[in-house]
Parts: sequence; C-alpha cells; structure tokens
Amino acid sequence: MWFIQQLLLVFVFFLFLGKYLKIIWKARSLPPGPSPFPIIGNLMTLCFNMYPETLSKVSKLYGNIYTVWIGETPVIVLHGYKAVKNAIVSHSEELSGRPVSNLMKDMSNGKGIVVSNGHIWKQQRRFSLMTLRNLGLGKHGLESRIQEESQGLVEVLATQNGKPIDVSNFIVHSVANVISAVVFGHRFSIDDPTFLKLVAANQEIIDSLGSKWATLYDAFPWLMKHLPGPHQKVFKNREYLGDFVNNEVRIHQQNESPEEPDDIIYHYLAQIKKTKGDPDSTFDMVNLTQTVADLFTAGTETTAMSLQWAILFMLAYPDIQEKIHKELDEVLHDSSAITYEDRKRLPYTNAVIHEIQRFGNIASVGVLRRSIKDIILDGYLIKKNTNILPNLDSVLHDPQYWKAPYKFNPEHFLDKDGNFKSNEAFIPFSAGHRICLGEQLARFELVIFFITLMRTFRFQLPEGVTEVNTKYIAKATLQPHPYKVCVVQRGDLRYL
Ligand code: HEM
Repeated sequence: MWFIQQLLLVFVFFLFLGKYLKIIWKARSLPPGPSPFPIIGNLMTLCFNMYPETLSKVSKLYGNIYTVWIGETPVIVLHGYKAVKNAIVSHSEELSGRPVSNLMKDMSNGKGIVVSNGHIWKQQRRFSLMTLRNLGLGKHGLESRIQEESQGLVEVLATQNGKPIDVSNFIVHSVANVISAVVFGHRFSIDDPTFLKLVAANQEIIDSLGSKWATLYDAFPWLMKHLPGPHQKVFKNREYLGDFVNNEVRIHQQNESPEEPDDIIYHYLAQIKKTKGDPDSTFDMVNLTQTVADLFTAGTETTAMSLQWAILFMLAYPDIQEKIHKELDEVLHDSSAITYEDRKRLPYTNAVIHEIQRFGNIASVGVLRRSIKDIILDGYLIKKNTNILPNLDSVLHDPQYWKAPYKFNPEHFLDKDGNFKSNEAFIPFSAGHRICLGEQLARFELVIFFITLMRTFRFQLPEGVTEVNTKYIAKATLQPHPYKVCVVQRGDLRYL
C-alpha cells in the first residue's frame, strides 16, 4: 500500500513536471508574460477571466504584447491602439480566425458567423452583410423600423408617468424587435411569452459566455463538458434559441416567398435554392439556423447595453444631459422622426453618443482571434493557430489617444470650435476582416434611439438617491449595475 502511494506521488510529480516543461518549451518563442503553472496556466493571476483591469496590470509589467495561459493554451494579448492596429489591421487576413476549442464553438459546431472559420465563415459573413445592405440599411427600410421601435419605446416609457423604473427590459425588448424585424421579418408583442423567453435565454447566453465557468470550459473542455454547473445552462438556452429560429424558418417555408423578400430568412432560403448542387456552397439549414441565431445574439445585448449605459451616464452627468437638451431644442424644430443624418447637425450630441460607446465599452476586452498563418508581430514569430486577444478596452483607454481616458468626457470627440472630431482609436466595433458585422445597424440604432429618447424625456434620479454607480459588472459584455430612473416627459410624444 505504502509503495503504491509513493508510486502515485512520483507519477503525479512527473505529470506536473512534464506539463510544466511542455509549457516552458512552448513559451520560449512567445512574447513574455506571467509565469504559468502546470495545467492551470495563469488562471489564478487572471482571477479566472479576462478582466480589463487585470490585463491592464499585466501589461504594465510585460508591455504591449504579452502571453497569458488559459490552462495549457497560450493567448497573445495586444495592448494599446498601436499594437492592436499593427495586428488586426495590418495582418487582417492572417488574424481573421476564431479559436476552435471553446464554449462558443461547442454551442455552434463551428457553423454560422461568430465562431466559424475559413470557407463557411467567408460565405456566411459575405451573404449576411450583402443581405443587410439589400434590406436597406442606410436607405429607408431599416431606418424606419428603428424609428418605429424607438417611438414604441418612448410611448411605453411615457406610460410610467415619471415613477422610478428599471429601463433595462423596455430597452432590450425594443432593440430585440429591431433585429427580429431584420431576421424574422416581423416584430413581437412585448407581452408575447415566447418572445420574452427568447430575450431572457439570449441574455443568459451572453452572461454565461463571460463567466468564470466559460473560462474554465475554454481551459478544460474535456472535463467541463461532463461536469454539472452553470455552463451547462448555456447549451439549453442555445437549444431554445435554435428551436425558436427553426420554428420561424418552418413558418417561412409554409408561406409563399414574397416577390421582394424583406428578411434574412427568406433571402437565405432563396440562397439555398440558388446554390443547390454547388459543391462549394455552405448554404444549408444548419448554417441558416446558426447565422440567424448569431445575428440575434450579437445584435441584441450589445446595442441594448449601450443604451442602458447611455441613460445611466445622463443620470451621472446632468450637466451633459442639459447641454444635449439645449442643442436638440435649438436644432430640431420640426417634429418629424429622427434620422441617422440628424447627427451631423448635432455635434455635441453626436460626441456624447461616441463617448458613451468609448467609456461604456460594452465589448470589454473584445473577442479572441486565431492566426490562420504564421506571422511576425513586434518581432515575435506567432505560429499559425495561436490565439490572439486584441484588447479593445486598452485601445478605448489608451492614454496616447485620449486626453482623460478614465473620465466621461464628450470633449474627446469635439474640436476647439465645438465641431465633431473623430479619433482613430475609437474602435468599439473592432477592426479588420472580423470587424463587427452589425456596425452600421448598431450606429443607426444608437443615434435614433438615443436622440428620440433625449428629445422626449429628461432622465432623473429617484427622490432621495444622490449617487450613481458607473462601475461595471464584467460579463461577456461590460454591464451597468441595475439602476432605477425617473423618466420625465419634456417633449411631444408623436413624431411618426
Ligand atoms: C453597440 C453595438 C455593438 C458593438 C459594440 C459590437 C461589437 C462587436 C465586436 C467588438 C465584435 C468582435 C469583432 C472581432 O472579432 O474583433 C463583434 C462581432 C460581431 N457582431 Fe457586433 N457589436 C454591436 C452590435 C451588433 C449588431 C447590431 C449586430 C447584428 C447585426 C452585430 C453582429 C455581429 C456579428 C455577427 C459579429 C461576428 C463577426 C465575425 O466574426 O465575422 N453586432 N461586434
């Protein structure tokens, strides 16, 4: 017995030693970074997640390109605008991959857009971008849908009569209805229980993806797959979303396709028909479900969260809210619906919208990429199939590009004469070949929703509340702490 125990100890010792040497061997040509432990890598140093502050601290020690280990997998982190740009813009094609083994991948089997790679990704992405364009983003189709939803939101908020409310669900339902119109071709009543369940499932997916469990899953997929825990819920929610999409697809198939299809599902079904028999085609029912699910998931929480930050910042900075009201009152004389073009005559408001995105930074540290070829980054040879994190948080707070990176300051986007001024380090949608596919839609939504809300309402703190918590909760997105607000009417309700 004693002998077996000794043997086991020796075995464990050599197992750890072997794992350690393997990491050291792999690390020899990689950028520097905190010393990894066998098996868990730097998970302890990182507090089991890629938090913006932790990565910022690591970069102070190791520079703008460094390595952290998620379990036994190295991730090269790029810090600051120059390092990120030099990687994902200058090596856009080489860094256009997504990591293969992670929770997101297991949710979608490498189909759709967000975590697919190679030929599937290229075809699904190109098709979705083209269809979004055909559906009229930038012209009038989608813009009027956003206007209708923002008008609906205004009406619902007005019925609350200025009492303290949590606006998050109202916002998320309106934004989810914009993307529903795009993908399913129709909106849902906000009392529809299946829609409410869909939105809730979607929210839980995003929350799970940014949890410590997700990091553990990424580090040890072979183990976590079989262990119970909150990460298992993500698969159930994904299944619900998939079933929901499939049901919509069935309804589309039963109906006759309209002459001018006006949603992604009709366009996709037509594409499957068109490319039938083409061995090169990746347009099939599985990719259809995943592409629609990807657009719904990526397009709901992100925009909704940005608008929740927007209202919170209005509470935190009432002087800025005042200035916006003044500009809107001076410039918007008629009562027609807000358009995306309006931002051009509202430089201060436009600057605030940009600052909300910069400071709110909902995409946190961004999404992992993978090199699809060997490349040289900052003198280091980065081998094909290496995971790379272009840390977006570090770009949106890069002191070389922002005067007061950790202050909410619309002046970041204004010149000395009060004109709107862009900033090259403003990349909340990332950059390169994998840049957010919904960037234009999101920009339209933020401008139209925000200005419509600001024109109609004043956002006030509930009586007795004097402090606003602008710290974030780090999940897959950076979310504000739940808050209550009094939405007080200041303008007409009807513009459409
Ligand atoms: C304020 C709103 C939004 C922000 C800040 C945002 C940000 C991002 C970021 C940072 C990425 C990762 C890019 C990378 O790999 O480096 C991304 C990817 C993506 N986003 Fe957005 N997004 C927003 C809204 C939307 C909307 C409305 C849609 C839906 C149409 C959408 C669809 C996507 C898709 C499909 C991807 C994956 C692209 C790919 O892998 O090729 N996003 N987004």
